Amino acid sequence: MRERLLFCFTAGLLWAAAGCTAGDRSPGLAAAPDGAAVFRQYCVTCHGADGSLGLSGAKDLAQSTLPLDGRIAQISKGKNLMTPFEGILTPAEIKAVAQYSLTLKKQ
Ligand code: HEC
Repeated sequence: MRERLLFCFTAGLLWAAAGCTAGDRSPGLAAAPDGAAVFRQYCVTCHGADGSLGLSGAKDLAQSTLPLDGRIAQISKGKNLMTPFEGILTPAEIKAVAQYSLTLKKQ
């Protein structure tokens, strides 16, 4: 009986700790793709880690005012020298990386 209580308590703590780390960006969507990881893998080559590298004519994402919808469309279809990512990333990954790219914006 005591062991069982202790187990529940420990399991509860672990669950709460996991909830904290997953909850700071997208509550309830713990399985959503990690936009930052997608960005590091597919976008830094042209945009740089902070979005302002500007290689191959890439737009400075720290200055971009393009809203989420437009970003999702452009990441999917590409534009000029930008790669179309619709066959490379899933729609969920495209949305996650578009959302992440918005966080690079500097006011
Ligand atoms: C091969 C280089 C390259 C890669 C890789 C690349 N981009 Fe781009 N990106 C560009 C270029 C070039 C433009 C400017 C297109 C234009 O308007 O002529 C651009 C523009 C954009 C814009 C629009 C900015 C604006 O204000 O118009 C967004 C958003 C964007 N990129 C996000 C991403 C994301 C997210 C990824 C990774 C999934 C990515 N890009 C990967 C080259 C790249």
